Amino acid sequence: MTYTIKKTVSASSRSLPANEKLGFGQYFTDHIFTVNYTEGEGWHSAEIKPYQNFSLDPGASVFHYGQALFEGLKAFRQKNGRVVLYRPEFNARRIQEGAERLCMAPPPLDLTLQAVRELVQVDERWVPEGKGTSLYIRPTLIGTEAFLGVRPSRTYLYFIMLSPVGAYYGEGAQTVKIWVEDHYLRAAPGGLGAVKAGANYAGSLKAAFEAKKKGYAQVLWLDTAREGIEEVGTMNVFFVFKNEIVTPALNGSILPGGTRDCVIQLLKAWNLPLSERRLTMTEVVSAHKSGELLEVFGTGTAAVISPVGELAHRNEKYVINNAQVGPLSSRLLQEITGIQYGEKPDNMGWIEPV
Ligand code: COI
Repeated sequence: MTYTIKKTVSASSRSLPANEKLGFGQYFTDHIFTVNYTEGEGWHSAEIKPYQNFSLDPGASVFHYGQALFEGLKAFRQKNGRVVLYRPEFNARRIQEGAERLCMAPPPLDLTLQAVRELVQVDERWVPEGKGTSLYIRPTLIGTEAFLGVRPSRTYLYFIMLSPVGAYYGEGAQTVKIWVEDHYLRAAPGGLGAVKAGANYAGSLKAAFEAKKKGYAQVLWLDTAREGIEEVGTMNVFFVFKNEIVTPALNGSILPGGTRDCVIQLLKAWNLPLSERRLTMTEVVSAHKSGELLEVFGTGTAAVISPVGELAHRNEKYVINNAQVGPLSSRLLQEITGIQYGEKPDNMGWIEPV
């Protein structure tokens, strides 16, 4: 289905930040997409307009009971100048699944896909050029009904904003030190861990803050038994052992990440021995002791592949691959970014024209 999206083009176009200044999520483009949902009426008033503030009633449910869900995907400027999207349908589907979990109105698939395309077209000049840079696309769904009773909102605002982002790594990938979190939990079975609810990120801040104070970049999240491995920071996680590559199985408290899915598809295509299963810290520590733990890396949209050089667990430190980026992490990073920037053939069908 094709939607009618009203367009109002910004009268002024701001100057573009230099690639070196981009960082992550610091600049926003000239335009924003918004659409409203009203129970009984459905989705209406879709528009692309100059980037601007919202006006919301202070009673809006998002402010009180946290009905907020988001997505993250990217557009890339390839070598030939062509702008492409990376697996937009994956994210368009995942926000629907998240909306269902949070009792929110799920944005129609075609609406997300059309809105992303038209918004990126309008702000095409904001897609940076250069390996490592991209236009980060942030669809967000919030409950807007003003009421203080605890029940799902009957009105929603769905908006999509764009942010040009820089190379995650300066001079190539580097390893990070990770604190294995033995106290705080990211998610529990039956909770919100499998969806991109804003609440998950609010709940993660304290552990990340305390880990940073101790000199660690992020935390490794464990399950309620403080034994099973779940995620690393805001990413999924993979462990490379001598005879097996393991990523925790999607058990209901782990986010089904897009890059996780890409890595699984690539490892299968390369005939490498991948298992999606429960993986425990006891197993990781014992593999480290016997020299069978070769690499650990996180996977996410922002960093793509983030190699781990050290895990600190209780009173022990486990250095992995001499704190160097391992061969599988490098190969995956080269393959995925190669496809994104049009340097390698897209045999998986992940790239779409805008
Ligand atoms: C990712 O690493 O892909 C994320 O989801 C991070 C985002 C919350 C900034």
